[in-house]
Amino acid sequence: MRIAVVGSGYVGLVAGACFADMGHEVILVDNDQQKLAALRSGQVPIHERFLPELLQRHRGKKLQFSDNLHEAARASTAIFVAVGTPPTNSGDADLSYVESVAREISGGIDGYKIVVEKSTVPVYTSEWVRKIILRNGAQADSFDVASNPEFLREGTAVTDFLFPDRIVVGADSDRCAAVLQEIYAPLSDGSYYKRADAIPGPDRAQIPPPVIVTSTKSAELIKHASNAFLAMKISFINAVASMCESVGANVQQVCQGIGTDSRIGPRFLNPGIGYGGSCFPKDLMAFRSVAREVGYDFRLLDEVMRINEEQRQRFLRKVRNALWTLRGKRLGVLGLAFKGGTDDIRESPAILLVQSLVQEGCVVAAYDPAAMERAREVLRSNVEFVGSPYEAAAGADALLILTEWEEFATLDLPQINRKLRYPIVIDGRNLYNPEMMAAHGFTYYSVGRAPALPEGLPTGDSRGNQKI
Ligand code: UGA
Repeated sequence: MRIAVVGSGYVGLVAGACFADMGHEVILVDNDQQKLAALRSGQVPIHERFLPELLQRHRGKKLQFSDNLHEAARASTAIFVAVGTPPTNSGDADLSYVESVAREISGGIDGYKIVVEKSTVPVYTSEWVRKIILRNGAQADSFDVASNPEFLREGTAVTDFLFPDRIVVGADSDRCAAVLQEIYAPLSDGSYYKRADAIPGPDRAQIPPPVIVTSTKSAELIKHASNAFLAMKISFINAVASMCESVGANVQQVCQGIGTDSRIGPRFLNPGIGYGGSCFPKDLMAFRSVAREVGYDFRLLDEVMRINEEQRQRFLRKVRNALWTLRGKRLGVLGLAFKGGTDDIRESPAILLVQSLVQEGCVVAAYDPAAMERAREVLRSNVEFVGSPYEAAAGADALLILTEWEEFATLDLPQINRKLRYPIVIDGRNLYNPEMMAAHGFTYYSVGRAPALPEGLPTGDSRGNQKI
């Protein structure tokens, strides 16, 4: 199948590379000349496992790069729209990029084609895309608009794309659904997974993945509802973690106890410093906005967002409680990206926390395996970027763990202890066992678990709980 993918951002680039790996002829379209030149010359703009291999494999062969949307549309049977839908000031999704793509491709529709929404868009967007294409001269029976939401996560984008839990095909005609099903056939008939050169899958992969055929509007809603549900799950467990801290329970034990109920499931039940990234915060606001527009006041989403904000503030209070005053304190910080495994710092709770700490007079020595270059652009004064966790710990009054990189879960603890000015670790991702940290001589604070103190130190109160 000849496919155009419009937009070479996270989703577009990964989708383009994966479609090529599935055997399709892909043209990846972008109007950013610099980005195109970089991609053509072999650069990989994002930190994503297996993406360098796929680009290397298909660049200039099954994967071409172009700035000519009109021609790419003309040459393709399916046009996937994966451009940005950033939030406006009011929290709605800004659909102006989607609209301009719809306008530009109309002239390239010279035979039956499908236009597929891959970006996360509000329900009803497909109707607008159709209207815009018709207004610009395309024949009503020469195209269909479909929704094929993408559920990949940053950091595991390629495997998420090629080994999805499900493939959602939102189409309002059989003809349109058939084109999308043909595109995904290498996954849904299992043939991709039998290939010797297939990208290796994760342990949990369901092979082959099921295809769920829905109406276009349902597919649009599935994407927003999925992200909102996952964010709700995170806020829920963060709220439970706060209760655990108040009563002296252990959130990890609670998670095990509730996550083993197959109706709840253990994934996305990790408490932390709140969710971030380019998707959950933006999509929750957009979903709430769409709900309002169609007459439903989705207040549950307000609460999910409030708990998320509160979670970051609680962590700040935890740092204050551990160190008393903050002015002039030196803090080692591990992790700047919005989560482990990525260099993306958009809406990163780690960055927001560092900014708050600096504002309160701290000096921060920060380390992240992938996100330092990006972080340098937003963190300027009173932040030193260092080359390892041990350098971050050197001379610091405390060490803060803000993202769950694997590297941070396997630190040489005696070395960290020796480097720190005071052996205090405040872990926003629960990477360590509290008793083990105490045994290594640390005062250790985490989320939803009682603090652990090295033997001989007085506990904060009679139950040994944190007072927050
Ligand atoms: C999220 C969804 O998981 C994807 O399915 C979706 O395709 C994507 O948004 C999107 O809409 O494009 P992503 O933003 O890459 O993916 O990252 P997640 O792994 O979902 O993490 C989001 C945030 O939640 C991170 O800050 C992470 O640290 C936090 N999180 C996640 C927790 O605090 N606890 C958890 O248990 C899981």
